[in-house]
Amino acid sequence: MTDTLALLKLRRSVPPQFLAAPGPDAAQLDQLLTIAARVPDHGKLAPWRFIVFEGEARDKAGDIVAAAFKARNPDADGEKVTFERNRLRQAPLIVAVVSKAATHPKIPIWEQELSAGAVCMTMLVAAQAMGFGACWLTNWFSFDTAVLSAFGLGADERIAGFIHIGTAQTVPADRERPALADIVSRFGA
Ligand SMILES: Cc1cc2nc3c(=O)[nH]c(=O)nc-3n(C[C@H](O)[C@H](O)[C@H](O)COP(=O)(O)O)c2cc1C
Repeated sequence: MTDTLALLKLRRSVPPQFLAAPGPDAAQLDQLLTIAARVPDHGKLAPWRFIVFEGEARDKAGDIVAAAFKARNPDADGEKVTFERNRLRQAPLIVAVVSKAATHPKIPIWEQELSAGAVCMTMLVAAQAMGFGACWLTNWFSFDTAVLSAFGLGADERIAGFIHIGTAQTVPADRERPALADIVSRFGA
């Protein structure tokens, strides 16, 4: 079995609370983004881009998420607000993959969005191949227009995922996977 197959066979998400420093350094981050941008992309539209959240900038991101949470939940107690504030402050590195799919004469939006999903998955696997733990999350604030605009997204852009990356403190026990018998059919059978 190749290393790639071994990694894919055992791949697990590591939740952000178990992702500590050190995260990828500048050269590793460059490599991760370069690899992630190599995904299949019908029409070579590059219908995605990256926003890097790192270091103290994560505190600013946390403030934005906390403010949006308070606006939605004015009665929430301080503990809940702190929990939400920390969502983008746990892993040392978070990369937002932004989908900027747009109407095109030949390439459907759906295919452009699939390409953004492939970017997320490729980054997740590449981070794990580099020896980091990683997790692909959206959370409620990926759909909050105030948060999206504060993060610099345009009205035609969406979050495909936040990829949280760091040194895994623990790897969760595996979970049940779908049985092939439930998800595979043979055409013509
Ligand atoms: C687009 C997308 C968004 C996700 N968002 C969340 C999320 O907000 N919260 C969450 O707990 N899991 C989310 N997940 C699931 C996790 O990434 C992960 O698959 C799950 O924790 C199971 O771990 P595993 O990847 O090891 O099977 C999302 C997955 C995808 C594909």
